[in-house]
Amino acid sequence: MRVSLFSSLFLMPLCSLFLSFCIYAVSGQCLGNQQSLLLQLKNTLVFNTALSTKLVHWDQNVNCSLWEGVTCDQRGVIGLDLSNESISGQLDNSNSPLPNLSNLFVVDLRSNQLQGPLPILKPNVNFVDLSWNNFSSNIPINIGNWLPNTIFFSLASNRFHGSIPESICNAAPLEVLDLSNNSFSGAIPRCLTSMNLGVLDLKRNSLTGTIPDTFSEQCALQTLDVNGNLLDGKLPESLANCTKLEVLDIGNIKVEDAFPCYLKNLSMLHVLVLRSNNFYGPIGCPRLNSTCPMLQILDLASK
Ligand SMILES: *[C@@H]1O[C@H](CO)[C@@H](O)[C@H](O)[C@H]1NC(C)=O
Ligand SMILES: *[C@@H]1O[C@H](CO)[C@@H](O)[C@H](O)[C@H]1NC(C)=O
Ligand SMILES: *[C@@H]1O[C@H](CO)[C@@H](O)[C@H](O)[C@H]1NC(C)=O
Ligand SMILES: *[C@@H]1O[C@H](CO)[C@@H](O)[C@H](O)[C@H]1NC(C)=O
Ligand SMILES: *[C@@H]1O[C@H](CO)[C@@H](O)[C@H](O)[C@H]1NC(C)=O
Ligand SMILES: *[C@@H]1O[C@H](CO)[C@@H](O)[C@H](O)[C@H]1NC(C)=O
Ligand SMILES: *[C@@H]1O[C@H](CO)[C@@H](O)[C@H](O)[C@H]1NC(C)=O
Ligand SMILES: *[C@@H]1O[C@H](CO)[C@@H](O)[C@H](O)[C@H]1NC(C)=O
Repeated sequence: MRVSLFSSLFLMPLCSLFLSFCIYAVSGQCLGNQQSLLLQLKNTLVFNTALSTKLVHWDQNVNCSLWEGVTCDQRGVIGLDLSNESISGQLDNSNSPLPNLSNLFVVDLRSNQLQGPLPILKPNVNFVDLSWNNFSSNIPINIGNWLPNTIFFSLASNRFHGSIPESICNAAPLEVLDLSNNSFSGAIPRCLTSMNLGVLDLKRNSLTGTIPDTFSEQCALQTLDVNGNLLDGKLPESLANCTKLEVLDIGNIKVEDAFPCYLKNLSMLHVLVLRSNNFYGPIGCPRLNSTCPMLQILDLASK
């Protein structure tokens, strides 16, 4: 039984979200029919056996609760961590490409060479990491319906393109949405900045239009990164509602604005990047002796 799925520092906060999950994961079982579903999966995947450290050891003579990359609890298999397994090729979307496991909450396929469209996901999934692959397609227009229980969703560093469907805002429980380093274009859906997200990472895409002025009074964002897009216009004043912001990176877009003094209310801000925009006027704010007491990095450089 492995809990190392959550070992990386970045995932520690998630582990506390899933605290009961992490504790359950200590004692679990992998049932007979699940073992054969997992073996079927192994047979359909193309992976480099010389580089694989998990799949390559999946052995039908060993109880699947002991397989690397498989997490179980008393309900059976609840997590699949096939990250960094040098899996290539396309997942077969004609059937569900992932095994039909009724309690599969965690799907981690990070750092492989998977290509083609987004694999079909089951609605119970809480954690989906497909980052650092070679997926290239539009996101299905009804993506929000795929993710009714999803807290973490990362498609970072792939070749996804097209616009970000508005339906993603139906994924109400989302706390982390990372679409960075793809080729998304079009506008940022207005509903996206009024969701209850903690992390919204859209950096390195080709998004156009303005940053929507729809940050709500309940704004829970700790990180907002839109660096490296084709956004223009002014910074939205409703951003002042996001008093929990720690990292605000709006560098390398085409914002044209005076220095955003209203950000002075963001007392948690550690990192503020405004580089390579068209900010003008004096830096700093009248009637304020110190802006952002926590600020550690302020990047105002221009190209
Ligand atoms: C694995 O072991 C558990 C009990 O520890 C058992 O319930 C389960 O059926 C076993 N799985 C297989 C595939 O034999
Ligand atoms: C990923 O796998 C490669 C071997 O294919 C290994 O060298 C590297 O350390 C692994 N990275 C992680 C983060 O596990
Ligand atoms: C998935 O499993 C459930 C119950 O275990 C079953 O009702 C359903 O038909 C299965 N779906 C597919 C596509 O096999
Ligand atoms: C990525 O996918 C494309 C096909 O969409 C393929 O031509 C290319 O070789 C893949 N790159 C890698 C690194 O696997
Ligand atoms: C962006 O993603 C590509 C793969 O699509 C990767 O090769 C590149 O290193 C990534 N760049 C950054 C800065 O993350
Ligand atoms: C904060 O959000 C509310 C809507 O919930 C909005 O009316 C208000 O203008 C926002 N605050 C700022 C400073 O924009
Ligand atoms: C900034 O915070 C003060 C109280 O801390 C509040 O009165 C004011 O309306 C806030 N300004 C904005 C732009 O949210
Ligand atoms: C700013 O500092 C000056 C002197 O250091 C002090 O008199 C003034 O009250 C301060 N203003 C605010 C708004 O804190």
